[in-house]
Amino acid sequence: MKTLKYYFEKAQKEKWAIGQFNFSDFTQMKAIIGAAKELKSPVILGTSEGESKFFGLEEAVALRNVFKKKTRSAGSGQAGLPIFLNLDHGKSFGYLKQAIDAGYDMVHFDGSKLPLEENIKITKDVKNYAKWRGVLIEGEVGKIGTDSSKLYSEKFEIKEEDLTKPEEALKFLNKTKANLLAISMGNFHGIEASGIDPNLRLDTLQKINEAFRQARGRTKNTFLVLHGGSGTPESDIKEAIKLGIVKININTELRLAFSGSLRRALSGSDEIVPYKYLPGAGKSVQKAVEEKILLFGSRDKI
Ligand code: 13P
Repeated sequence: MKTLKYYFEKAQKEKWAIGQFNFSDFTQMKAIIGAAKELKSPVILGTSEGESKFFGLEEAVALRNVFKKKTRSAGSGQAGLPIFLNLDHGKSFGYLKQAIDAGYDMVHFDGSKLPLEENIKITKDVKNYAKWRGVLIEGEVGKIGTDSSKLYSEKFEIKEEDLTKPEEALKFLNKTKANLLAISMGNFHGIEASGIDPNLRLDTLQKINEAFRQARGRTKNTFLVLHGGSGTPESDIKEAIKLGIVKININTELRLAFSGSLRRALSGSDEIVPYKYLPGAGKSVQKAVEEKILLFGSRDKI
């Protein structure tokens, strides 16, 4: 079976990215997998702490396994479609341990608001627990603002001091040996009401790459992650992938597709049968995921 690490290495070498698509209910989960199946793409299903508490950690793993089994067919081999699970923005060692024990393939510890030393300490604890279980760890250095629950009517200001500092990223990676690193480079969670976020700070990404190069390969096995992918200009996403981003997280755009479709389906209607009004919402989510898979270049990469 090809591991998640195999896909990150392949993406890094061939310059494409794997999408992480967040969900909190079955219709969304099915839609994300439907898109991956249609386009023969590896995919990461993301759940934040809140999303996973609503859905259930063990339930997410069990259903993922069912989908893998059901997609064993021509094109995706005996292991089924490469569908992976990530616990996104975990805030404590205890909760990430639960996700690892439940069978998640990777976990993200978000200690970006903690002092660097404390962030390093907890990330290292998570890494020590995860590594013997074949689970990958994503760490975070630099502050990525806001959350995926809003449209921002005012322009979101990125503060210079919140951008990831290359020397802090290096120190963090040397000490924690995290497999992936989420960076702050002008990205933020959620979308501006205009639908388009400001440009990414590709110069920050270039500086991080340069610092990694000077560290002479000690960071060779680190994969860089872009959070807050919703609303990011497509040309910026393409440039970021060229510069080494191998995982891109998308949530707000899928939430908008899902809830917008439901609102339209139910307003002025007396329909009460969920299996009649939910498929439209699923289709909207699937369409949004397919567009991202094409943009990220992960089509036909299973
Ligand atoms: P968006 O909600 O901006 O897509 O960000 C999602 C994310 O980064 C989840 O970790």
